[in-house]
Amino acid sequence: MQDVFIVDHPLIQHKLTYIRDRNTSTKMFKELLEEVSMLMAYEITRNLELEDTDIETPLVPTRGKVLGGKKLAVVPILRAGLGMVRGIENLIPNVRIGHLGMYRDHDTLQPVVYYNKLPQDMHQRDVILVDPMLATGGSAVIAVDELKKAGARSVKFMALIAAPEGIRHFFDHHPDVPIYVAAVDEKLSEQGYILPGLGDAGDRIFGTR
Ligand code: PRP
Ligand code: URA
Repeated sequence: MQDVFIVDHPLIQHKLTYIRDRNTSTKMFKELLEEVSMLMAYEITRNLELEDTDIETPLVPTRGKVLGGKKLAVVPILRAGLGMVRGIENLIPNVRIGHLGMYRDHDTLQPVVYYNKLPQDMHQRDVILVDPMLATGGSAVIAVDELKKAGARSVKFMALIAAPEGIRHFFDHHPDVPIYVAAVDEKLSEQGYILPGLGDAGDRIFGTR
């Protein structure tokens, strides 16, 4: 399949520009990332199944539609993925949240898994994996490995910015998992940063640099 969906709504592109800007404060960065995540979640959940239900308006009985049987889970890759969770929860307040902790070793750029806490019934859940950055793709590949091992019924990967190299690497391992991004940037730097990118997402969210 190898589907990459670029969610290029004008509101998303406008906010992304301020997210990239080095002069954007930590507070604004977090708020903008949350807003963009909510807008992207609107797109990524477009095909959620609905079921009919009977209700009464103040005037007459009628039929409506509500979200149906399929269970969802959102799984952020720690740390930076945490910055995308609230935006999705704003739309789907009861969504279950799993956590996968990993960081890139700064010398080898290889991801190191340090935490895995997922809902028990993963085999019943469609998962939205979130991380703002798809750089070399190493973290996302390992994260999807973990989700598949846990039996996730399906996985979609939602990132803010991807590098072409990372997309290729990701699809070498998981061609069945669609990627949703706000932008595909030019390339990776020699240090494994996305160019033009936004810098280190975790540091910008948590103000650690
Ligand atoms: C960043 C980012 C991704 C990863 C992407 O995390 O949030 O998880 O790098 O890089 P990759 O595609 O080359 O694997 P980082 O390792 O900086 O950890 P942090 O979120 O704790 O800051
Ligand atoms: N991780 C980040 O936070 N930023 C990049 O550009 C690449 C990986």
